[in-house]
Amino acid sequence: MIPQIIQFPKIYDKRGNLSFLEHPNQLPFEIARTYWIYDVPGGELRGSHAFKEQQEVIIALSGSLDVVIHDGKEEKVYSLNRSYYGLYIPKMYWRRLENFSTNSLALIVSDKSYDENDYIRDFEIFKQLTDER
Ligand code: TYD
Repeated sequence: MIPQIIQFPKIYDKRGNLSFLEHPNQLPFEIARTYWIYDVPGGELRGSHAFKEQQEVIIALSGSLDVVIHDGKEEKVYSLNRSYYGLYIPKMYWRRLENFSTNSLALIVSDKSYDENDYIRDFEIFKQLTDER
């Protein structure tokens, strides 16, 4: 699979709408971990790195943010601003989260537990590894 937007079900209700995700219908992996990023000061960036093995889906539960994905050759920007869309990112894509709105809340679901050894934090090393793709 390549990076792509996943649309989650949206159950319209006059009492308020509801969306959900579950494996395997909306998610291509089983969730091992969920974390969220919030209270991001204006202009700050998060997550400039790639993962060797982890796959993830990023959802703007509230507000908006941009996810910039680099495949080693080119960069693509995904603007997330609806809670019923998620961005699927496979392993071995460099990603940066930026342009957070005030009160932005980004939820990340991942198929791996936290492991610092799974991070590639040096872009040049990432590029070398993707050259072999
Ligand atoms: P990091 O993933 O580097 O943040 P970002 O990619 O958004 O810039 O994580 C920041 C710190 O938080 C890092 O020291 C490790 C810790 N952390 C955990 O302990 N568990 C987690 O699930 C995550 C995502 C981070």
